[in-house]
Amino acid sequence: MHLERILQRNGFGTRRACRALIGQGRVAIGGVVHADPADEIATEGLVFTVDGVDWPHAEFATVVLNKPAGYECSRQPQHHRSVLELLPLPLRERGVQPVGRLDADTTGLLLLTDDGPLNHALASGKRMVAKVYLVTTKHPLDERQIGRLRAGVVLHDDPVPVAAVACEQLGEHHLRLTVGEGRYHQVKRMLAAVGNRVEALHREAVGGFVLPPDLAPGEWRWLSVAELLQLSHPGKR
Ligand code: URA
Repeated sequence: MHLERILQRNGFGTRRACRALIGQGRVAIGGVVHADPADEIATEGLVFTVDGVDWPHAEFATVVLNKPAGYECSRQPQHHRSVLELLPLPLRERGVQPVGRLDADTTGLLLLTDDGPLNHALASGKRMVAKVYLVTTKHPLDERQIGRLRAGVVLHDDPVPVAAVACEQLGEHHLRLTVGEGRYHQVKRMLAAVGNRVEALHREAVGGFVLPPDLAPGEWRWLSVAELLQLSHPGKR
C-alpha cells in the first residue's frame, strides 16, 4: 500500500496532510526515513513511526483506557471533558468510540474501538458480556442485600428483574459485582434497589479481559492480537 494511504487509514488526516508529513521527513519505518508518499510498503505486521512515536498499522483500532473520574464517555460532553481527549489525535480522527458507557464518576476499564461490529457485540445487552465492578457502598452491606442482588432486583423502568451474574462481598462497604446487561446506571440502580447507595465505582474487567495493572489512570494502550481474540469470543467471567 502507498505510504500516504497507510497514514491516512491510520488517522493522520487528509491525503494532503499525510503527504506533507511524509515529505517533511517525519515518517520512518525500521529506523529509515521515508520521504516519498508513493513508497509501496507491505502492511503485514507494519509498525511505522511519526515524529519518533510508534504506530502499528491496524485495520481497526481497539484500545484500553484506564478511565479517571471526571470524564464523560461522550463526543459532546455536557459537564466534564470527553474521555476521547485522553487519546492521541490519530485515534480520535479514526473515530474510535467507547464500548458502552461509564458514568463520569466511574473509574477503570474502558474499551474504545472503531470496529463497529466488535463494539456492538460487546455492548449489546443481549450478549450478556460480563462486566466486573468493584463497588464501594455508603451503608454497610448485609446478607439480605447480597441475596437480593443475586436473586434479581426490579429497576423502575423495566418490570424484568436484573440479577448479578456474580456477587462477592469483600468488606463491610465493598463488593465485587458482575453484571451482564449494561443498562443505564445499572450498578447504582441495583444498589439503590436493595436500599444502599454507591459511593465509588470501578470497572476491573469486561468479557474476561482485565484492566492491565500497569496502566495508570488516564493512560491507554493498544490491545494485543491475543487480547483482541479474547474479546472477540467474550464469555461470562
Ligand atoms: N453502572 C453504573 O451505575 N454506572 C457505571 O458507570 C457503570 C455501571
